[in-house]
Amino acid sequence: MKRVAILISGGGSNMLTLLRDMAEGGYARPVLVASNDPAAKGLEKAAAQGIPIAAVDHRPYGRDREAFETALAERIDATQPDILCLAGFMRILTPGFIRRYEGKMLNIHPSLLPKYPGLHTHARALAAGDQEAGCTVHEVTADLDAGPILGQARVPVLPGDTEDSLAARVLAQEHRLYPQVLRRFVAGDCRPVLL
Ligand code: GRF
Repeated sequence: MKRVAILISGGGSNMLTLLRDMAEGGYARPVLVASNDPAAKGLEKAAAQGIPIAAVDHRPYGRDREAFETALAERIDATQPDILCLAGFMRILTPGFIRRYEGKMLNIHPSLLPKYPGLHTHARALAAGDQEAGCTVHEVTADLDAGPILGQARVPVLPGDTEDSLAARVLAQEHRLYPQVLRRFVAGDCRPVLL
């Protein structure tokens, strides 16, 4: 059965939906939930489900991204994952780290890529007057938020939407999209999931 490691930085709502879907579908097994923030709330939620966790605080490494990533990769590789899922993971990864896991690392991004790579995606969609927004799951490559798209979910932008109301509408779709993409990816089916 495919072994899945999930990387988070915060509450881990996407991580929780992936854990639940793997438990229900039995198509893969979570072997680690890791975070760059020891205080990430998602870590205790994963531990409460008996999932092995790892916290590698990026702060002591300062600007030495490689040293942080070496420590993180050590914890990841110890669990021998077949797939890495970035889920609300807020660190930019160096090409060296990405090369290590290329072809088996997914990320969910809260915009309809290629629109709005990077941060503050909802604010940018609202500022642009977009009628539609959404989220994308893609393979992680060295170009930030630009790897092959494995799935997208669209939501309407509604009159009076704020960054928070739009973020909440998109997040609900992230929770639908990511498990469906992981199921296909595990099955070796890379046709994009379009919701
Ligand atoms: C959310 O903004 C989501 O859009 C993005 O990361 C943030 C936190 O997600 N993927 P999570 O609740 O930690 O999964």
